[in-house]
Amino acid sequence: MSSEANVAKAGLEGIVAAQSSISDVNGEEGKLIYGGYDIHDLAQHATFEEVIYLLWNGKLPTSAELAALKSQLNAEAGLPAETIDLIRTLPKTANAMDMLRTVVSALGIADPDGADNSIEANERKAVRLTAKFPIIVTTFQRVRNGQQPVHPRSDLSIAGNFLYTLTGEAADEIATRTMDVAFILHADHELNASTFAARVTAATLSDMYSAVVSAIGTLKGPLHGGANEGVIKNLLEIGSVDAVEAWVKDAFAKKKKIMGFGHRVYRTVDPRATHLVEMSRKLGERTGETKWYEMSRKMEEVVGREKHLNANVDFYSASTYYALGIPTDLFTPIFACSRISGWTAHVLEQYRNNRLIRPRAEYIGPRGLKYVPIEERG
Ligand code: COA
Repeated sequence: MSSEANVAKAGLEGIVAAQSSISDVNGEEGKLIYGGYDIHDLAQHATFEEVIYLLWNGKLPTSAELAALKSQLNAEAGLPAETIDLIRTLPKTANAMDMLRTVVSALGIADPDGADNSIEANERKAVRLTAKFPIIVTTFQRVRNGQQPVHPRSDLSIAGNFLYTLTGEAADEIATRTMDVAFILHADHELNASTFAARVTAATLSDMYSAVVSAIGTLKGPLHGGANEGVIKNLLEIGSVDAVEAWVKDAFAKKKKIMGFGHRVYRTVDPRATHLVEMSRKLGERTGETKWYEMSRKMEEVVGREKHLNANVDFYSASTYYALGIPTDLFTPIFACSRISGWTAHVLEQYRNNRLIRPRAEYIGPRGLKYVPIEERG
């Protein structure tokens, strides 16, 4: 591409690449809305299932609509025997995001709607994917631990079933609501990297599973969803509140990026983090182990003072999940268990008004070279 006006913008920063009515991020004011509703309002009052309905349908459900969605999700939550067999054949040491990507890809081959790319078939696929994600993650955890998988209960919510199928015991109200709110907060975030990847794949008119597999691979990276696992690794390495300041300064001196801080769009506090801070504190107090919360607070203070960076959604989700006793390598898959609702909403939106996504590159290589036979090359 030769026009001087068309120079690349590193990381596509600030480029508007799609129209969407699913969610909106106001980075200057630190505001996030899903379908017109403020994230604070939803985190305080809604359930994850209501949010899923909102993302897929652009409106909050009536009681009857919510009941219908819940029964569809419940009916699809169990894993087919072949999927459990596949999980058993994977190495116990497999990266949990690689496992999720592989299992979702295999589910795509066996989906009852096959290659049908109609709106109705894709709505059913979205239900299956959203219902099954948490159970894939908990089944992997149990199988690698030598335990029997637990079948989800039809009377539990997605959050309740996540904890129930992880431990084999129904969780209490506080733990269940914490997971529910965490799922609400992570459900969608406009054109983040994994959602963009999903839309690019869907825009070729490839199938929904392929789009979701693209998204899982994208979420895995430490600059995106992988950051929450990086956060807990850092906290465990630091070990005490007293050691935080020196550790942060050393990391900055070595030009390292500290996971859980900074954001491409937010120039102020990430509104999702404000809920996770409180959840991390309350859960710490409940278990009598407030160290991880206190270390996180200290880290936030030092990073803010030294570099003017704010904590993002991944920062306090790490100590929240840790306080719930969830294995640390499941933190990013948990993000996926929530974001699948947003990914599928965006794929459905892309199909409704599709155009191939095909940007240009600013060519900066040489031109006009002549082919030289291999024996004459120096
Ligand atoms: N730790 C240390 N420095 C950071 C930082 C972090 N977490 N995030 C940004 N910075 C610094 C960069 O080093 C850069 O400094 P410089 O201008 O002196 O080189 C500046 O802030 C701009 O950062 P940049 O990486 O160009 O911003 P971006 O918009 O491309 O990246 C993120 C955004 C989220 C990828 C980035 O903040 C980051 O890597 N954060 C850590 C990973 C993370 O938590 N991801 C989850 C996001 S929800």
